[in-house]
Amino acid sequence: QAAEKGGFKHFMLKEIFEQPKVIRDCLLGRVDQQSGQVRLPELDGLPVPERLHIVACGTSYHAGLWGLYLLEKLAGIPVQVEIASEFRYRDPILPKNGVVLAISQSGETMDTMAGVKLAKSRGLPVIGLCNVVGSSISRESDYVVYSQAGPEISVASTKAMCSQLCALLLLTLYWGRRSGRLDTAQCTAILRGLQDMPRVLEDALPSLRAEAQRLARHYAEATSFLYLGRGPSYPLALEGALKLKEISYIHAEGYASGEMKHGPIALIDPRFPTFAMALDDEFFPKVKSNLVEVQARAGEIIALTNEGLDLAVEHPWFVPKAQAPLSAFVVLPALQLFAYEMADYLGKDVDQPRNLAKSVTVE
Ligand code: G6P
Repeated sequence: QAAEKGGFKHFMLKEIFEQPKVIRDCLLGRVDQQSGQVRLPELDGLPVPERLHIVACGTSYHAGLWGLYLLEKLAGIPVQVEIASEFRYRDPILPKNGVVLAISQSGETMDTMAGVKLAKSRGLPVIGLCNVVGSSISRESDYVVYSQAGPEISVASTKAMCSQLCALLLLTLYWGRRSGRLDTAQCTAILRGLQDMPRVLEDALPSLRAEAQRLARHYAEATSFLYLGRGPSYPLALEGALKLKEISYIHAEGYASGEMKHGPIALIDPRFPTFAMALDDEFFPKVKSNLVEVQARAGEIIALTNEGLDLAVEHPWFVPKAQAPLSAFVVLPALQLFAYEMADYLGKDVDQPRNLAKSVTVE
């Protein structure tokens, strides 16, 4: 096992550090440099969806929620994202022009599979976005896009989500170009940024880990965290909170930062830290004003942010600046590393957290 971990203490850490390769592998053979086009021949028979229903569980659900922001804004496709266990029993209205996108790392999650079967029984085409080749969901789907992350061993999903984000971005560009919503220049600029991301991450990962270690020691006694994000950073806030819960057993909740005033703000005090995504993007002024509210109640803040922004918090955590849809690829490993370092410092069983399974094949 030690050899399989490639010198890392845990599979989770190894998989976090594999993310530059994961992005490269997900892009493999899918980008046409000349024309700036995305190639997804596995979908060529399918017209651009008029509406998309994304169905998934756990971390894959968070990836889907992130995809919503891109698919609507860049590809102009109306999107609904559904927790599979709710979708399957809701008797959902599925218009005939809809397409279902089932996201599952393992391709074996029972609730997601039930969503696939429901969609098929209503005559909707189903695309499976899976990691495991030949898995049940990939076999049941009409079309399959593989996220190509390689085997994920750690129960808590890390690199698989990175590959799902990458695949969702490729889908967005693929459909955005076909519908004429995106032009060559827009597509090429995003693809260049995405192709450059593995190098950016390789440079950044060691210092992200060092900062995660420092913060974990500082916050090891905390019993609860509030994760805040806005826009496409909102699903990342949900994922950051999920990772912390899963492996360190510390309570955390993820919230859309604009919703904080409708409840969680009542919890803020000096012993209840906030972990915010405050990046250099269109949402920054709003996020900043939410954080001022936290500070007014003596709440401490860790903020994933970019150099040069006017933000005064206890723990600014600088990440490389990336153009809008790409910032997730640097934020995600920071969130994962923080959860990892907290769990490791607290002596938890990182790769096999209590009560959790890698893939949930029962209800
Ligand atoms: C389990 C795993 C999670 C995963 C979820 C969905 O709960 O512990 O890490 O996100 O299932 O799994 P899937 O294989 O469908 O992506």
